[in-house]
This record gives sequence, C-alpha cells and structure tokens, in this order.
Amino acid sequence: MSIAIITGASSGIGEAFLSEVVNSTGKFGGTNIDAIWIIARRADRLEALKKKYSNSNIVPIEADLTSEEGISIIEHELSNKKPTIGLLINCAGLGKRGKVIDRSKDDLSSTLDVNCKSLSILTRLCLPYMVCTGGAFSWKQAPRIINLGSSAAFLPQPGFACYAASKAYVLSFSRALSYELHNLKIAVTVICPGPVNTEFLSKATDSKESKFTGIRAMCVLSPEKLAKKGMKAAMRGRHLYVCGFMQKCLYLASKIVPTSWILSIEKILMPS
Ligand SMILES: NC(=O)c1ccc[n+]([C@@H]2O[C@H](COP(=O)([O-])OP(=O)(O)OC[C@H]3O[C@@H](n4cnc5c(N)ncnc54)[C@H](OP(=O)(O)O)[C@@H]3O)[C@@H](O)[C@H]2O)c1
Repeated sequence: MSIAIITGASSGIGEAFLSEVVNSTGKFGGTNIDAIWIIARRADRLEALKKKYSNSNIVPIEADLTSEEGISIIEHELSNKKPTIGLLINCAGLGKRGKVIDRSKDDLSSTLDVNCKSLSILTRLCLPYMVCTGGAFSWKQAPRIINLGSSAAFLPQPGFACYAASKAYVLSFSRALSYELHNLKIAVTVICPGPVNTEFLSKATDSKESKFTGIRAMCVLSPEKLAKKGMKAAMRGRHLYVCGFMQKCLYLASKIVPTSWILSIEKILMPS
C-alpha cells in the first residue's frame, strides 16, 4: 500500500493540499497513491473530508501533535500497516500573535511542539517507509516531503517572535534535510508563503482579527491557489518555493540588507 500523509488536513492549506493529492495523477515513490492519511485533532472535520472524497481512500487519524501520545498513534499505525509513503505533507501549524511577555507558556510551547518538534519527529518516523518502488528512478516520481514554512521565516518578527523563529527552524531543517536525503532519492520542498486566507489569523489573534489588513492584505492568497502552486513547485523539484512577489522581495532583502534596517522598516509598515 502506497500512502500520502497530510498533517493539518482539517482546515486551510492542509485541506487544500488534500484536494490536490486526491486529484493528482502524479506518481510518488514510483507508484500511485492508494490511501491518504489525514491527521489533525478535529475528528469531525476529518470525517467530513472522508465523506467528501468518498471515491478516494481517506484515512482520518485524530492526533494531537503537541503530545507524545499523538505522535505514538501515528508511529503505531506505521509499524502496524507498514505502508510505503510516497508523499508526506507537514502542514499542521499555529502561531500566537503578541509580544512574548504577553503570551502564556502554553502558547509558546504548543507553537514549538507543533511547528518544529512534531514536524521533525514525524518526518524522521516516516523516512524508513519512503522508498521508491517500481522500475527506474526519476526525480519526478520520487517520494516527496513538503513542509509548510512561511515568509515569516526570513526575518525576526517582533510581535510574532516565536512563530517567526519556529518557521526559520522549518526552513533551515528542510533545506538541510533535502541535502541529507538526496542520496536516498527523497525530494524535499519547503514552501514559504505570505498571508493565506485561512483560520490561521483568527486563531493567532484569539479571534480578534479574521482578515489580513494593511500591506498584508495586498498579497493574500487562497489556500487552494497556494496548494496548487506549491504542489507544482514540489513536482518540479524545487527545494525552496517562496510564493508571491512581495515574499520574494522580502527573501532577497533578508539576504542583502542588514536585519536591523529591515526591522525598522517592518515596524513602520506592519506595526504589531
Ligand atoms: N495562513 C497563513 O497566513 C499562513 C502563512 C504562511 C504559512 N502558514 C502555515 O501553513 C500551515 C497551515 O496553516 P493554515 O493557514 O492552513 O491554518 P489553519 O487553517 O489554522 O490550519 C492549521 C492546521 O494545523 C492543525 N493543527 C494545529 N494544532 C495541531 C495539533 N496540536 N495537533 C494536530 N494538528 C494541529 C489544525 O488541525 P486541528 O485544529 O483540527 O488539530 C489545522 O488542520 C501552518 O504551518 C502555518 O504556519 C500559514
């Protein structure tokens, strides 16, 4: 059995990636995907997606990725079923807006647990199952990992410090991983979008904001568009996909302009 695994599939970008995988005709790890394991805490949402895509073999797995128990559920499923993993999409993530001093210990720890720890551990658990089957190898059909980073990864972000730092981790981890896994013929893509129209902002601001405003509003993407573009970039073998013109400019600026200068500009353009 060849499977795809999508974390954070119960909403937003993960849900949009699920639709991409369901409709994909591509091969991952040399074969077609037989089943898609979708992981999140909201079991009702996962069940609704199973119904929505009743023609596909969707396997909902309710797991809280902040907990050891949540990770163990997936570990046990893997060791029981011993699937071949053609595609792993690490989409689960969260952030909490506000100064570090104003956020709780739990806010900081859940951000790091989901965005960094679970992404790394889950990736490690999946690697032994990511092998290419069937015929001659081509990178287009390689087993693939897609990690959701963010343009927040490019620079420190006062007012969103823990989230931006966690995404810097995802970016660094993914880029190193793509080199480590080259000889094992596993492709890794990290996607760094700007603002995307999902539940993310509402959760990040404790329901105080639900729509991006100011300069961010000018470059909001739909999750469907991001998933389509992200999947295309991954299939083309991109290690890093920075999505959006403004985000590309920010990425370039982060490489050549001193961080303190950009932080000063950021303070004017995006007061937290
Ligand atoms: N939206 C943006 O502006 C934006 C921009 C750049 C990058 N991103 C990144 O894109 C990814 C997806 O975010 P989104 O915009 O689609 O937000 P979203 O709609 O809030 O989706 C977040 C997903 O993560 C899951 N999740 C959160 N905590 C979890 C936990 N403890 N255990 C298991 N699953 C958990 C949620 O499922 P349950 O709540 O059901 O558990 C949900 O499916 C994140 O990594 C985010 O950092 C988002």
